[in-house]
Amino acid sequence: MVRLTCPKTLRYFKDVYLTALTLHSYRSPDMSAQVDRRFFLRSSLAAASLPLVARLALAADSSHQQSAYEDQRTAWFRAAKFGMFIHWGPYSVASVEASWPIMRPGQWGVTETEYRALPARFNPVHFDPDHFIDMARTAGQKYMVFTTKHHDGFCMFDSDYTSYKITNMPYGKDIVKQLADACFRRSMPLGFYYSPPDMHHPGFRDTSRAASENWNGQPERPEWSSYLQYMQLQLTELLTRYGDVRDIWFDGLNHQEKYDGRRFLDLIHRLQPATLVNDRIGVPGDYVTPEQFIPRAIPTKGVEVRGADDSVQKDFHAGVPSPADFQLWETCMTINDTWAYNAHDHHFKSSRDLIRGLVEVASRGGNFLLNVGPQPDGMIQPEFQERLRAIGDWITINGDSIYETSYGPVQGQSAYRTTAKGSELYVHIFDWPSNSLTITGLPAKVLSARLLANNQPLRFEQTAGTLSITLPPQPPDANVSVVAFRML
Ligand code: GLC
Repeated sequence: MVRLTCPKTLRYFKDVYLTALTLHSYRSPDMSAQVDRRFFLRSSLAAASLPLVARLALAADSSHQQSAYEDQRTAWFRAAKFGMFIHWGPYSVASVEASWPIMRPGQWGVTETEYRALPARFNPVHFDPDHFIDMARTAGQKYMVFTTKHHDGFCMFDSDYTSYKITNMPYGKDIVKQLADACFRRSMPLGFYYSPPDMHHPGFRDTSRAASENWNGQPERPEWSSYLQYMQLQLTELLTRYGDVRDIWFDGLNHQEKYDGRRFLDLIHRLQPATLVNDRIGVPGDYVTPEQFIPRAIPTKGVEVRGADDSVQKDFHAGVPSPADFQLWETCMTINDTWAYNAHDHHFKSSRDLIRGLVEVASRGGNFLLNVGPQPDGMIQPEFQERLRAIGDWITINGDSIYETSYGPVQGQSAYRTTAKGSELYVHIFDWPSNSLTITGLPAKVLSARLLANNQPLRFEQTAGTLSITLPPQPPDANVSVVAFRML
């Protein structure tokens, strides 16, 4: 059954319109003298009479119909900013990384045979999908992406096309279905991670050999087309049996062209036109996916996103792209160093680093997909819970500066980050100064300033190009404190 999205469509329109308006308020650096005043008139008008105004505006602009359509599809995603990635499967039983113990054996202390025996031991009888949703809500995460099938090929859903699946194991129930139903009931947008690499399928590789020998797949074998057909059938199941799928999160690893990504993009668009698709199946998707790092500059279309270690500093000051050049993106990141549950991995990021990571991502217009690898019993481990709660505490107070924002107009500063929404500018202060903060390069006049945490008004002085704000001696929040400015 495909659930209709109609009731939510009007809200999408409002989201896209407001977000598009926010983005359109920017000028490229050389034209950045001031923010377009018409933008504010239009946005107050829009706020009063959406979605009719949005519809008229989008329809009137025939030259931009395609991008308006794309905007509509991605509006919820751009507004959400923060999601929960969930890597869960039989691998959680062994405290090893998902799938890699068979693809690159040696590191994890389990053999391929032992790994293959894990599903029979994976029996999460107390699994409660509401626990995932509760934790995501506590953290302020607005969507989830769940591993329906990882590279090992094991299906967490009741596929008709394989016996290597959760419903054939002692547990016997469809985990994806339970999660999808709970997410639907509680209005939590859900996306599906689906791995094109599949160590179990004989069409993907010669499974009589060790997975370590051919884990990149064997598209040269005649069996390959049977594997692509299998993907087609499974994606059809996922997109027709589990309600609205907000996102298909492919993870194609190397040589992604072998998957004929266009075919699957067309399939997804046909079955659920609103479903977003990431960029890991060899064709451009709706957004790019930096993994375990935050790009130093705002990603732009056609420019490769470089790793955090990249020392090319010029990108760091690359400035603010026009909305047309902006490349939508999502950083996925682990809380420790493992995607799956791993009791031995104590290398946890601090709550403060994770909060700052979220701010950093939002300041460049991206989304932060923070991963949990639930325990074999389906519980999220205490160390993760503690951090998700801390992020949630921060976001309860400072969420206005994250949700529905776009990248900020001042970039490349080490002491602070900026985000923007409508006529609000948010400055997230990383290094709290002793009494005043100076911001240069602001594209508009400031009308008022306050601490977001407690609404305390702040004194400021603005001269051509420079804004100086007087701050209290102590930051209201030890993680990051936010000053909210109302701009003309
Ligand atoms: C990598 C890993 C995979 C993980 C993914 C998440 O591609 O191979 O195990 O699921 O990152 O981004």
